[in-house]
Amino acid sequence: MRKKVLVTGGAGYIGSHVVRQLGTAGYDIIVYDNCSTGSPKSVLYGDLIIGDLADLDHLYLVFAKHEFSAVLHFAASLIVPESIIHPLDYYANNTRNTLNLLRCCHVMGVNQIIFSSTAAVYGEVGENPVSEFTPTMPINPYGRSKLMSEWLIKDYAITSSLRYVILRYFNVAGADSSGKLGQISPKTNHLIRSACDAALKRKPQMQIFGTDFPTPDGTGIRDYIHVEDLATAHLEALLYLEMGGESQILNCGYGQGYSVRQVIERVKAISEVDFPVIETDRRDGDPACVTACADKIHKVLGWQPKYNDLDLIVSTTLAWERQREMVSGTK
Ligand code: UD1
Repeated sequence: MRKKVLVTGGAGYIGSHVVRQLGTAGYDIIVYDNCSTGSPKSVLYGDLIIGDLADLDHLYLVFAKHEFSAVLHFAASLIVPESIIHPLDYYANNTRNTLNLLRCCHVMGVNQIIFSSTAAVYGEVGENPVSEFTPTMPINPYGRSKLMSEWLIKDYAITSSLRYVILRYFNVAGADSSGKLGQISPKTNHLIRSACDAALKRKPQMQIFGTDFPTPDGTGIRDYIHVEDLATAHLEALLYLEMGGESQILNCGYGQGYSVRQVIERVKAISEVDFPVIETDRRDGDPACVTACADKIHKVLGWQPKYNDLDLIVSTTLAWERQREMVSGTK
């Protein structure tokens, strides 16, 4: 019998890529998403139930109707500046809703969960690369809401049969090569998206937030991971839990950093557009350098990334952004 999994947030950027891989691998999929930032069009496999994790009664009904072998939990709010302005919304949508999900897992006996966490749980890191043993000291409500969710999962696992894989994402970017999936939320303004917007003339210029960091070219360094490799890590994590693997926290990154200037240079080269770049002050709370130590995920899951290539990340983002404009007519 095909295994049935619940994917919360499966209509969103990362969730939709994972749903596609799960569908290809033969899983039966129920996507639960309020479509606040995701889109039904991004759900290429399974059934979509429009619902909010805050609605515990509805969620119970969904669990009661289906027999899930595992839950993959993506649904969350993830914009750091917004989390500072609306912290309660972040604790509600991220932490409280993870609690709701765990309550349903408890009642219905679902004992495998894969949780989307973030490198933001580490906060202002003093050392690089960052390993899973680096102390967690998040510096904003977004990071804290995710870390609190991790604690809920870990504490509940101590007194139950729950086994988990918590994946801490570094800087996720890129889009699937078929052009069917990519970042659709207009709210996100991460570096590669921002540079592609400038290349596509959706804005007259882009900004570099800080050129006086203690890095070789003075700009921030991050570990950009292609969304398809990240999606594969979820399938491997699921297989790992199905084979009886014990609970794990795993960094998801390549262990290789690129500076803001290097990224912009590649976007200009690949798009063949020399857009204006303004150098401004540092953005509040931006660390100089964050790269992942990815040894553990390689060892535990045998994860072998296929798209560890900044040019590919940039070119798939550009292709997606171009076609998103054509298909939806929105910028
Ligand atoms: C962001 C989130 C982080 C989250 C991660 C993955 C913030 C502050 N942090 O990381 O919590 O885990 O996404 O979802 O939102 N930059 C520019 N110009 C731009 C945009 C960015 O110079 O227009 C710089 C930033 O200062 C930074 C680098 O580019 O040095 C990457 O920024 P961004 O893509 O926003 O991601 P992070 O802030 O690293």
